[in-house]
Amino acid sequence: MTRPLRAAVIGCGAVAANHAAAYHELPGVELVACADLDPARASALADRFGGRAVAADDLYDHAPDLVSVCTPHPAHEAAVLRAAAHGVHVLCEKPIANELDAARRMVRACDDAGVRLGVLFQRRFWPAARRIRTALDDGTLGRPLLADVAVLLHRDTDYYRADPWRSTRAGGGGGVLSTQAVHYLDLLQWYMGVPVEVSCTHATFAHGDATEAEDTSVATVRFAGGGLATLSASTALTPGLGCRIRVTGSTGATVGLSEYPEGSEAGLDVWAVPGAARAGTPYGQGLVADVGLARINGDLAPFHALQIAEFVTAVRDDRDPAVTGREATRSLALLTALHASAASGRPEPVPTVHEEIPA
Ligand SMILES: NC(=O)c1ccc[n+]([C@@H]2O[C@H](COP(=O)([O-])OP(=O)(O)OC[C@H]3O[C@@H](n4cnc5c(N)ncnc54)[C@H](O)[C@@H]3O)[C@@H](O)[C@H]2O)c1
Repeated sequence: MTRPLRAAVIGCGAVAANHAAAYHELPGVELVACADLDPARASALADRFGGRAVAADDLYDHAPDLVSVCTPHPAHEAAVLRAAAHGVHVLCEKPIANELDAARRMVRACDDAGVRLGVLFQRRFWPAARRIRTALDDGTLGRPLLADVAVLLHRDTDYYRADPWRSTRAGGGGGVLSTQAVHYLDLLQWYMGVPVEVSCTHATFAHGDATEAEDTSVATVRFAGGGLATLSASTALTPGLGCRIRVTGSTGATVGLSEYPEGSEAGLDVWAVPGAARAGTPYGQGLVADVGLARINGDLAPFHALQIAEFVTAVRDDRDPAVTGREATRSLALLTALHASAASGRPEPVPTVHEEIPA
């Protein structure tokens, strides 16, 4: 019989409960340690889900086999490099990093150490998201030609004030593209392929007194395969209207999903495929009041659990997880180009990542 895998969590804030709960529930996994700069947060998580509350510097004294990195984005790199240096497999929250070079260093360090690096994009684990990927794989859509992404969310200004890393450009956490829309940038490139050029404009409509970063962005994206996409993203809506992505292929068929309210499992709202057409509306029950972060993260937890279970299986089977560090670097490259275009006021190329980080 194989021994239980020893799991740890570093960064015990809002999203960490989704990781700790998944490890707590998974057969063959033991949550051994929870670490945070703030000992009270580490204790609160360990009290709920097990393991010992430890100082971040002492984490590796507890011999984890794998660690979830749930720190703010700017602290992802140091935590991943440290895990790799200790020969520990690592599952990092999204986005992989704020800077492409940091992501490249993370991928290389894990390769060199022979450990698996996974990145959390749990929306890929929605059945609806997988149906769209299957419609591309089985030819229903043909070649992806056109996509439309809308991320139309609500945040209180206090959200930016509560955690200082969300309010500075250097923290990178406050920008709607990095923190909220990045899940849909990931789906966009999963469906449409390699993005090559973007045009983007940022604005700050609602939260300018609390964050330096954009709360609103609009963009167009051109893909290597010839496809095009439009994107609009904002946290300035009251109430928020959730998120959606639609993809039209060379067969003329269009499929799409909607997430409403934010955090709920998305459903297919458009399946415009000749002979199988159907449609739904995300607002079938009417509009609902904005929900808080705890509810949003709680609704996402089952899909964190699916991705975390898949990562654990990958570690056991000594294979790559479904979303690798290399794969997550692709959405960061797109994010980087969007910010570059917003800064320059011109179309910008998307940095290539595959050539630079050979598989
Ligand atoms: N996958 C998702 O849907 C999802 C949802 C929410 C957040 N996230 C991501 O998770 C990460 C954390 O977000 P959050 O909302 O939980 O943030 P948070 O601010 O609530 O929690 C971060 C925690 O990390 C701790 N921390 C900071 N630096 C540290 C360090 N060097 N060592 C140890 N602990 C450290 C802080 O004290 C805090 O407790 C972000 O990258 C965010 O984008 C992902």
